[in-house]
Amino acid sequence: MNRLLAISLSIFLSHIFIIAADVASPSDRVRLSVGLDKEGAPVYSVTFDGKTVVNDSHMGFELLDSPSLKSDFEITGQRHDSCDETWRPVWGEESVIRSNYNELLLNLRQRSTGRLVDLRFRVFDDGVGFRYEFPCPQPQLQSFVITDELTEFAIPCDAVAYWIPGDYDSQEFNYTRCRLSEISSKMDEAHVGGPVYPSPFSDTGVQTALMMKYDSGLYVNIHEAALYDYPAMCLDLDDSTMTFRSTLTPYANGDKAVMQTGRSTPWRTIIVSDDAREILASRITLNLNEPCRIEDTSWIRPVKYIGVWWEMITGKSTWHYTDDVTSVAIDQTDYSALKSNGRHGAETSNVMRYIDFAALHGFDAVLVEGWNEGWEDQATSRKYKIFSFTRPYPDFDVKKIRDYAASKGVRIMMHHETGSAVADYERVLDEAFRFMADNSYNSVKGGYIGELLPRGEHHYSQAMVNHYQYVLEKAADYHIMYNAHEAVRPTGVSRTWPNLIGNESARGSEYHAFSGIKPGHTAILPFTRLVGGPMDYTPGLFENNISRYNPYSSAWVNTTLASQLSLYVTMASPLQMAADLPETYERFMDAFQFIKDVALDWDRSVYLEAEPMEYVTVARKAKNSDNWFVGSTGGAEARKSRLDFSFLPQGRKYRATIYRDGKNAHYRTAPQDYIIETRTVDSRTRLTLPVAAGGGYAISLTPVK
Ligand code: NOJ
Ligand code: CA
Repeated sequence: MNRLLAISLSIFLSHIFIIAADVASPSDRVRLSVGLDKEGAPVYSVTFDGKTVVNDSHMGFELLDSPSLKSDFEITGQRHDSCDETWRPVWGEESVIRSNYNELLLNLRQRSTGRLVDLRFRVFDDGVGFRYEFPCPQPQLQSFVITDELTEFAIPCDAVAYWIPGDYDSQEFNYTRCRLSEISSKMDEAHVGGPVYPSPFSDTGVQTALMMKYDSGLYVNIHEAALYDYPAMCLDLDDSTMTFRSTLTPYANGDKAVMQTGRSTPWRTIIVSDDAREILASRITLNLNEPCRIEDTSWIRPVKYIGVWWEMITGKSTWHYTDDVTSVAIDQTDYSALKSNGRHGAETSNVMRYIDFAALHGFDAVLVEGWNEGWEDQATSRKYKIFSFTRPYPDFDVKKIRDYAASKGVRIMMHHETGSAVADYERVLDEAFRFMADNSYNSVKGGYIGELLPRGEHHYSQAMVNHYQYVLEKAADYHIMYNAHEAVRPTGVSRTWPNLIGNESARGSEYHAFSGIKPGHTAILPFTRLVGGPMDYTPGLFENNISRYNPYSSAWVNTTLASQLSLYVTMASPLQMAADLPETYERFMDAFQFIKDVALDWDRSVYLEAEPMEYVTVARKAKNSDNWFVGSTGGAEARKSRLDFSFLPQGRKYRATIYRDGKNAHYRTAPQDYIIETRTVDSRTRLTLPVAAGGGYAISLTPVK
């Protein structure tokens, strides 16, 4: 477009916005405009195929004891660049990933203060990423404290949003689907059954990754990439203008980020397409992270595991060893003098039973929680908890279990529940990892339940983001694969640190045994939580009626058994658990076969059907194998999935084993009604498969010789 026309048009549209630069994506579908308004404030906007994705939106910061960095800027330079490269992740949904974008670096100088800020934009065919950079050296700015980031995302319509409440400590909520204008009226309901932390938040605050659908047909996702040394971002909506503004997780004193020139913020990402499948196929988040920093990655391998876990979650057994004491102090208590409560899960012979089951069915590892001293703090709901990471309970024989597991070719997965006693954990971290190395543990599940010490600090603050990163890098030093629960949600960091093989950071399967998970949950997570990286969702629940494990429980697993199988494919992760009890799997060995067979690492992924909260169907080719797997996860309503096998190579026949919902299947009334059938298929095959309410299907495909 003629520059003059562009300028006058944009002035006409916004009255204020003078475009300094336009950047188009390689195919020209996505366009970004950036400039300054009449106050000298940076403004950007984004379109997709000419449709507005984000209207004119401001950028900037408020600083502590210093003039704000939000206006009075002049543009002192701009540099355009482009990139088209491919790279190979250590694990993931594809073995080769392409990164293709056009870049703009805009240099800004604040007239009154002389301070410098650079804005870097990368425009891909499926969205944009941008970040703030603070050039170094600059005499007017060295160290500074951000009290507010003012990045806006002006949504052009009253979009449908799929969201969880803004919170600085937890993401473990059910999702709500409603118009932006309805968020405030739905906020109370959105908290029901969720975790309760004293996180002050407005009634229009939501978390990222935020998924939206516009009336124009666009699917839009807002998140962040490469979150390092900076607080996690929530979004607060001004629902009179439909404009979101970034809201950073504060320190207890209200400061947001302690910064220095030479650093930059994480990338703010906007993924967009008119096809929901493209949101799932987008690799923007990974592409905005740095290449792998671990030289030898041979020790990082996908892990399929079972665990002494669901029996505690359901209340069948306990994490803690003894009921005898109400006040144990872990450094002072002689546990061997205490009596077991008889229901302790991590008891040696019980663990050996799990090892046998894992070995028999080809699992890599057995997670054992409640093996270590300190769980009495948790059992008695003490606010401040201290766990030992080296001292087992008297009935957990570390050496016997280690040697038994080794003899069967199985690893034990370590568990480090910190109880959010972060300073204590950092103090003993080396010791804890050395204990692991000495006893053949190569992976750890971490945890951050409860409020943080010292008082008023939040799970997603800059300090905590740094803590998780510290643990992750320290784990890499010890060749330990890491999976943290209750930590900050991922932002593609696993590209750089692929020993981060999982995270929870969302409402995981465990809530089926607590306050419940709504049908449709696993059809929205791929659009939200998984945008940043894999989730340790812990699927594989075959028994819906939790009172079978614990007569005091009335909990119910709100999915069909076939749907549980689908999750191994739709929720891609190099870390996958079969979460239910061995004795339950023994009742359903034919269906369990799928969990045994399914791959964890992929050459290719083809998204076949997708609609947020309704359904996700994906076919994936196992890495270094000719086998394919298909998963289809549904929502609350029954549907028919039309499956087109054209993803298969032409002219080749495959034996398909289909695990699907039976005629009467329904998550509430007949969740265990499933059918397993086999047939021969090729790239021309088309099938219509039923998906029950709360249902799904899974297919394994092996070439016919
Ligand atoms: C919450 C985690 O999500 C769960 O998996 C774990 O068992 C408990 N915390 C105890 O650490
Ligand atoms: Ca959790």
